[in-house]
Amino acid sequence: MLLKGKNVVITGAGRGIGKAIALACAREGANLGLMARSLDELEHTKSEIENVNKDIKLTIVTANVMIYDQVEKAFKILYEELGMFNGIIANAGYSRMWTSHEFDSEKFIEIINTNVSGVFFTFKAAYPYMKADEKSDKSRFIITGSAAFTNPMPKFAAYTASKYAVVGLQESLAMEYKKENINFNMVLPTMVDTRLLRGKKAGDGNKPPNVLNPWDLEDYYLYLLSDDGNKTNNCLIFTSDFDEVKRLLNEAPDVNKRNWEVFKEYLEERAPKIYGNVRKLGTLVDFIIKGRVK
Ligand SMILES: NC(=O)c1ccc[n+]([C@@H]2O[C@H](COP(=O)([O-])OP(=O)(O)OC[C@H]3O[C@@H](n4cnc5c(N)ncnc54)[C@H](OP(=O)(O)O)[C@@H]3O)[C@@H](O)[C@H]2O)c1
Repeated sequence: MLLKGKNVVITGAGRGIGKAIALACAREGANLGLMARSLDELEHTKSEIENVNKDIKLTIVTANVMIYDQVEKAFKILYEELGMFNGIIANAGYSRMWTSHEFDSEKFIEIINTNVSGVFFTFKAAYPYMKADEKSDKSRFIITGSAAFTNPMPKFAAYTASKYAVVGLQESLAMEYKKENINFNMVLPTMVDTRLLRGKKAGDGNKPPNVLNPWDLEDYYLYLLSDDGNKTNNCLIFTSDFDEVKRLLNEAPDVNKRNWEVFKEYLEERAPKIYGNVRKLGTLVDFIIKGRVK
């Protein structure tokens, strides 16, 4: 088990990506603190997790990430239940599509507050309880960003702006806490079959082929939380790059994919742009090659 005994908190864990990560972390032995606003969805996630692993500590707590007092209280409760945290996944997010000049102003603020202030409030409230006393076992702060960063989308002005903003937030935090044993990293998915993207149709079995399943992302989060990710800091993991890495790993002759050291030459030759994007993440490619998950 990759995360046995680690304490991990995930926001937005009632459904979608957060729920898939929670199930993967439970399978790998992590104790979990799960947060969202809807108690019934959290309870549902909890009962699914209990079918995967009964031997972990699991606490659910409702909080609105837009309201700092609620987030602060939630982290205090989770600390009392679990102890110091090894990893925090700031994943809660919200989006609406709207013609910009007609965009409802309150909704615009809500999207920015959820996706930007919510990540900041999560860090601020979690910080006192983040285990940051060991260089070889650093605390991990992981943000779910979006491929909207670098690929802005029309009619998603608030969402796009928010996902650009969290990249800046991560840069600033990573610089500021460089001397502490905390890593900051981000997973930037393309399209994923969740309520945020497909509304009530999410999970209906009819997703377009270019849309990922939420569980397709689990290796990125597990890597960042695992010993293998201990030295990875201030990285942006674009899932589209790793879809291509995985495709090339599938077709590469065995001799070219024994490990990152040999695969990197193959990758650089075939996909120089992808190589440039992922070369700081060789330990993640190794993690995938070693088949550490599924
Ligand atoms: N789906 C995609 O295509 C895609 C692509 C790139 C990035 N992402 C990112 O992935 C993350 C997760 O989204 P998802 O796709 O899994 O969407 P989702 O299925 O709608 O799940 C969003 C989760 O966040 C929670 N949440 C939303 N607003 C909240 C708030 N104010 N306070 C606390 N929790 C809140 C929701 O629970 P409650 O409503 O109960 O609070 C839910 O658990 C987001 O950051 C999103 O931007 C998604």
